[in-house]
Amino acid sequence: MKKVHIKSFGCQMNVYDGQRMADILGEQGFEETPTPEGADLILLNTCHIRDRAVQKVYTELGKLRDIKTAQKAQGQDTRIVVAGCVAQAEGAEIQRRQPAVDLVVGPQAYHRLPELLEQAQRRRTVDTDLPIDDKFGHLPAPKPAAIRARGISAFVTVQEGCDKFCAFCVVPYTRGAEFSRPVAQIMAEIERLAASGVQDVTLIGQNVNAYHGEGSDGRAWGLARLMHRVAEVQGIHRIRYSTSHPNDMDDDLIAAHRDLPQVMPFLHLPVQAGSDRILLAMNRKHTADQYRRLIERVRQARPDIALSSDFIVGFPGESDADFEETIALVDEIGFASSYSFKYSPRPGTPAADLREQVPAALMDERLQRLQARIEHHRQAFNHAMVGRTVEVLLERAGRHPRQLAGKTPYLQAVQIETETNQIGDRVQVVIERAGSNSLFGRKAGEPDTPSQNPAMLDPAARDPANKDLAA
Ligand code: SAH
Ligand code: SF4
Ligand code: F3S
Repeated sequence: MKKVHIKSFGCQMNVYDGQRMADILGEQGFEETPTPEGADLILLNTCHIRDRAVQKVYTELGKLRDIKTAQKAQGQDTRIVVAGCVAQAEGAEIQRRQPAVDLVVGPQAYHRLPELLEQAQRRRTVDTDLPIDDKFGHLPAPKPAAIRARGISAFVTVQEGCDKFCAFCVVPYTRGAEFSRPVAQIMAEIERLAASGVQDVTLIGQNVNAYHGEGSDGRAWGLARLMHRVAEVQGIHRIRYSTSHPNDMDDDLIAAHRDLPQVMPFLHLPVQAGSDRILLAMNRKHTADQYRRLIERVRQARPDIALSSDFIVGFPGESDADFEETIALVDEIGFASSYSFKYSPRPGTPAADLREQVPAALMDERLQRLQARIEHHRQAFNHAMVGRTVEVLLERAGRHPRQLAGKTPYLQAVQIETETNQIGDRVQVVIERAGSNSLFGRKAGEPDTPSQNPAMLDPAARDPANKDLAA
């Protein structure tokens, strides 16, 4: 068999796309290999969201060129493919900067990979069309063995692209216009996943709560209605969705958090900033107070819900006062976790042309302050779990023998020590301790004796000087 190495950067959709490309290449006689060395085909699935992400791709391509040259000297042909959002945004420019690249393929052309690879054998090839036909209908379904190898949690793209055009963001240009997969197609995929042991699905899309796919009645179904169907699939115990825009959180979706036990009490709902002036300049089309009221409604439906957000600091024109409003919002909502980034001007986006760019040193300072607040709230959320009993879905081996690791409904990592459980079990766990990145617990109903396994005792947690909550 020929070998393919796939490396994905960026968001969950790239992880999903990487798997689908592995599936399509599997049908062409390729098996996946974990390292680029020795591979016949190396595929970089790239991200264009910030400048740093793009620079990473070119650094990586330099290394791959060296591998290609070394393998050539030993008589092995290696082809290098650049896929994903850098492929879409930069197209043939990639091959000008790195001539070792054989094929550039944008996210809407993955289903044509076999023929494009064929063509790339004769000449360098670029396919960055954004066609209207449904690529999902042309991608092969994953085989049971591939599903099992990927574990019991899976991403399923239900929506792709974005029509929101936030002033800073490349996604509407790299992923194209919003497209929703038909319900029947999604359900067939999820049923197939469940039949091979998947219990936990995250429905993904750049703007997933704008989902409006064709339902069985020929009408457009919203995300809530789709989730009601997914919740009926035997074996699917946990459902999440990501990423949502505040303006598309409709009543049905909020109600689904109350009505469907399978819908996990976790919501990633990026707000980006706490200042109305900046939100307006970002073209987010809502105010900070509208976001606050929305969060209130979500919490009414599901009081224990864990919230998370994305933030950008240093958007052009952001003053100290604007930034303080972001900090105030973070402290008020108390997010369970969040991502935060320094603003990165992206070619072709409206914000890139704005004057008043914030100096780099000030951005660094703001990012550090914001991240300290985010971390404080994350720790507080995790520490509040100590003493509670929660269901943990065991997903993989733990850090040490006899440990298994899984997740709480709130998407926290948990390690437990167990000799009787296996991956895929859902167990009731008493949370005993919150480390910096994981919770540690014991199965409910088991004696409360100190662990005999010294590895269970995280030295950081025993250190009296370590006060996670001191901030
Ligand atoms: N709605 C999308 C957001 C994708 S980008 C989704 O499905 O995930 C993820 C996050 O990157 C955004 O929420 C934003 O916080 C950040 N981001 C996007 N463009 C950026 C830029 N130009 N500079 C810095 N951060 C950016
Ligand atoms: Fe980008 Fe805004 Fe669309 Fe999210 S909603 S993908 S941030 S344009
Ligand atoms: Fe990056 Fe494209 Fe995802 S730009 S974040 S890989 S949609």
